[in-house]
Amino acid sequence: MKTLLITGGAGFIGSHVVRLFVNKYPDYKIVNLDVLTYAGNLENLRDVEDKPNYVFEKVDIVDAKAVNAIFAKYNFDGVIHLAAESHVDRSILNPLEFIMTNVVGTVNLLNAAKESWSSNFENKLFYHVSTDEVYGSLGETGLFTEETSYDPRSPYSASKASSDHFVRAYNNTYGLPIVISNCSNNYGSFQFPEKLIPLFINNIKNNKDLPVYGKGDYTRDWLFVEDHATAIDVIYHKGKIGETYNIGGFNEWQNIDLIKLLCSIMDNKLNRELGTSEKLITYVKDRAGHDKRYAIDATKLENELGWKPSLQFEEGLEKTVDWYLNNDEWLTNVTSGEYQKYYNKQYELN
Ligand code: NAD
Ligand code: TYD
Repeated sequence: MKTLLITGGAGFIGSHVVRLFVNKYPDYKIVNLDVLTYAGNLENLRDVEDKPNYVFEKVDIVDAKAVNAIFAKYNFDGVIHLAAESHVDRSILNPLEFIMTNVVGTVNLLNAAKESWSSNFENKLFYHVSTDEVYGSLGETGLFTEETSYDPRSPYSASKASSDHFVRAYNNTYGLPIVISNCSNNYGSFQFPEKLIPLFINNIKNNKDLPVYGKGDYTRDWLFVEDHATAIDVIYHKGKIGETYNIGGFNEWQNIDLIKLLCSIMDNKLNRELGTSEKLITYVKDRAGHDKRYAIDATKLENELGWKPSLQFEEGLEKTVDWYLNNDEWLTNVTSGEYQKYYNKQYELN
């Protein structure tokens, strides 16, 4: 029986990773550590919460004592670290929170792992989940490879880049066995409706404006979240210690094209006349320091570990829309209370 710590397991990607590991590896004990910020929600894990190989621990990774206590309580064989503040717009409003969770929190986990494994690093692994945003912003051409120099340009990406550097430093300085992956934009079920796709699905559903930043000519590379989870599984089990793997689906979309596709899917699902949802598009003030284009070269992962995405974007997007329309209660719950305050502040409404 292996014991595995997954941090941030109540969040969007983390919940998919927890679900995959709990179901696929009944002989692993999965400890989900999460402090349950606005983005963490135990409802995301209803279907696995009663499984005998699943445990939840409510802990703040910024609290070093509490983190050390968890490592003392369980004898972890490995860590998959996803807990983070993850939204660029919030990082512009409050950078310090991102430094605390993403940098200090990561270093607390590294220290705890180093201490608890100090007698023998063999067969241990600290897997740090990161983003392609650490590489900065691309022009019209080119892709991010694992060799691309770091050039983070938002407080969010700067905090993630810093945490990546600390993880590599612990490998180089102390020999801690680590692996890092940098993934492109994810979409799918359980994503908090502050990020582009779930926000726009929710607004279309409620006939609210669709706030497109700038001219909508920014490009992102989208990956279905369940494919990210399978990539994490492959890298955790087959990745080489000390290595970095880029994860992506070679699936670039200009925001405005993606939004128009989403509008047509929603018109169809909601039995509205084609073109109805597009009328909600409203061009608003651009995001400060908005990165122009992200695009991932994931050939290393395919060539060395044999991972490939399973879904085409159109199919994944339709599945995602279906999920949000069928999970009205989830959406209503997460958009009540504090959500409205954030929304009004971010989009300068009253
Ligand atoms: P999310 O915001 O949905 O979830 C983050 C989770 O971390 C939440 O459950 C939250 O409660 C928890 N958390 C936050 N602060 C914490 C703290 N101090 N202590 C303990 N738990 C805390 O994020 P996500 O989109 O699922 O992203 C997960 C990871 O993947 C992050 O590290 C992010 O940088 C990375 N990533 C995200 C994307 C994406 O498109 N969303 C792409 C690539 C990489
Ligand atoms: P987002 O989902 O926040 O992911 P990231 O900034 O990490 O890539 O945004 C995706 C793209 O959509 C990005 O170019 C910003 C843009 N965007 C809007 O145009 N309007 C919005 O309300 C949001 C949240 C994002």
